[in-house]
Amino acid sequence: MNERILELFQEFPDAYVSGEEISRRLNVSRTAIWKHIEELRGAGYEFEAAPRKGYRLVSKPDKWQVKELLSGLKTKVLGHNLHIYGEVDSTQTIAHALVASGASEGTLVLAEAQSSGRGRMGRSWHSPAGKGIWMSLVLTPRIPVYFMPQLTLLSAVALCRAIQKVCRVDIGIKWPNDLLINGKKVSGILLESSGEDERLKYVIAGIGISVNLKREDYPEQLRPIATSLAIETGTDISRESLVQTFLLEFEELYALYIDKGFAPIRLLWEALSVTLKRKIRTHTSSGLVEGIADSLDDSGALTVITNTGEKIKVYSGDIELK
Ligand code: BTN
Repeated sequence: MNERILELFQEFPDAYVSGEEISRRLNVSRTAIWKHIEELRGAGYEFEAAPRKGYRLVSKPDKWQVKELLSGLKTKVLGHNLHIYGEVDSTQTIAHALVASGASEGTLVLAEAQSSGRGRMGRSWHSPAGKGIWMSLVLTPRIPVYFMPQLTLLSAVALCRAIQKVCRVDIGIKWPNDLLINGKKVSGILLESSGEDERLKYVIAGIGISVNLKREDYPEQLRPIATSLAIETGTDISRESLVQTFLLEFEELYALYIDKGFAPIRLLWEALSVTLKRKIRTHTSSGLVEGIADSLDDSGALTVITNTGEKIKVYSGDIELK
């Protein structure tokens, strides 16, 4: 009954619906309606009640709205096998387990919160409840293991385009896949894979987007380097519409990649990059490299022209923009 009441309010957004109307439409007594509204209030829904006018739904709790998410999903495959959780240790762990029990390409794991969100290079990922998109997407591309970095770059392009579309904000990619707004990180991507005989068996694309975090939601040490879409745009963003838009962007780029290879993705990545032609510094296995980030090569590695004019390829790790 609570769901039916909510559906009714969705028909009349921002308007008062009288107790009489609800009672007639749902065939329940006015006392029962009052009880259900109280239950919904307890679950975080905010209602205004006015004499002779009825009830108005003022706000919903920011929990994943499964129906909304699925009904607006325009993809063919990605995201339709959807697993939503409250708090988990990491959506990556859940996705790996789902693959082990037969989950197929496009399976999506979403959580409200992560207690041990994983970042790249052994770092942790701050994932407070209801404030972000913490998700893992299962992919089974038939490509060699050494093409994985290309998928990472593809994910960054899809994410960047989705954020641009939904939030109309100036965002760019720092190699390989950090998304920055005004120099601060708003989103990160972690790809984990399993392979056999040099072929990928599956990839789990873990994506973290800091959507509606406020400054006080960040621990002190992250405040100078991290930001959220809400902080940067000054308004809360619908997590559902961002997930839907991302999955569609990803599906289109993924199809393009499977059909035409990395070349078109590379061009898109280069156009969104805030790294190329900038002075950078990075630590590689052969020591510190400083120079100008010049281009991406066919494998997705970053070509750096060092201060002594040498061309060096950087395959993994982090770079520091100077
Ligand atoms: C990074 O920039 O270091 C990558 C961050 C990736 C975070 C996401 S949140 C969803 C998924 N689950 C995890 O534990 N990590 C990824």
